[in-house]
Amino acid sequence: MMAVFQSNHTAGETGPGALPRHIAIIMDGNGRWAKQRGLPRTAGHAAGAETFRRVATYARDIGLEFLTVYAFSTENWKRPAEEVSTIMGLLERYLHEAIAKMERDRVKMRFFGDTTVLSPKLQELIARTAEISTRFEGCQVNICVNYGGRDEILRAARAYGAACARGEAPELTEEAFGDYLYSAGVPDPDLLIRPGGEMRISNFLLWQAAYAEFYFTDVLWPDFTPAELDKAIAAFQGRSRRYGGLMQ
Ligand code: IPE
Ligand code: IPE
Ligand code: MG
Repeated sequence: MMAVFQSNHTAGETGPGALPRHIAIIMDGNGRWAKQRGLPRTAGHAAGAETFRRVATYARDIGLEFLTVYAFSTENWKRPAEEVSTIMGLLERYLHEAIAKMERDRVKMRFFGDTTVLSPKLQELIARTAEISTRFEGCQVNICVNYGGRDEILRAARAYGAACARGEAPELTEEAFGDYLYSAGVPDPDLLIRPGGEMRISNFLLWQAAYAEFYFTDVLWPDFTPAELDKAIAAFQGRSRRYGGLMQ
């Protein structure tokens, strides 16, 4: 599938028609998708995992530099244990498959969130993806697991405080603070997409989304296709980003 906007532009270029460098997605609507079909919510998560595979591959194919997806929030632990363990199981399966082909596909992976509370098996898979990712350049996929924007900012503040106590803290600028976040070294998202019909941020990338363009759609995540991503990118390309200033 080729998108028209792609023909003359490359990732990172600025101006109308440019591809965003970094797209972030709140992968929402799995449960409702399943309910509409009379299926258990877990079937919705399995379908959502398939959508993630397709969308991530497409994002790489069009030359996107960074894709960040919200897979499991710090609040999602409130869900029934069976649902949580299904989601973790799907993540495990995805990582198993991804590890085998990351290098060939030139997709790097990083995790945002406190992964130390995940199962030893998941932590081992995550460590392997990190190791493989150091070996090449390519599209970078950031997977947010046990991630919360407030939690991230608090952790960064604590880490900065600890650096102060050691006498090793840099001057506290926005840039320096960003280095204490999970997203250190990753540019802020240009486009933040939320499928599933809700129009809220749900504790996602609170610091980083300061000037992201938002795109909401009622399409439920399991039904989200590369064509839907094209639509979101086209909407982004029609926006005027002023960053508080005036139009040129
Ligand atoms: C998103 O889908 C997946 C996670 C939050 C883990 P939901 O499970 O929230 O689906 P809805 O919003 O109930 O439809
Ligand atoms: C946000 O969706 C978290 C993820 C998609 C991982 P939720 O379904 O948890 O958000 P709320 O509860 O509708 O705000
Ligand atoms: Mg939801």
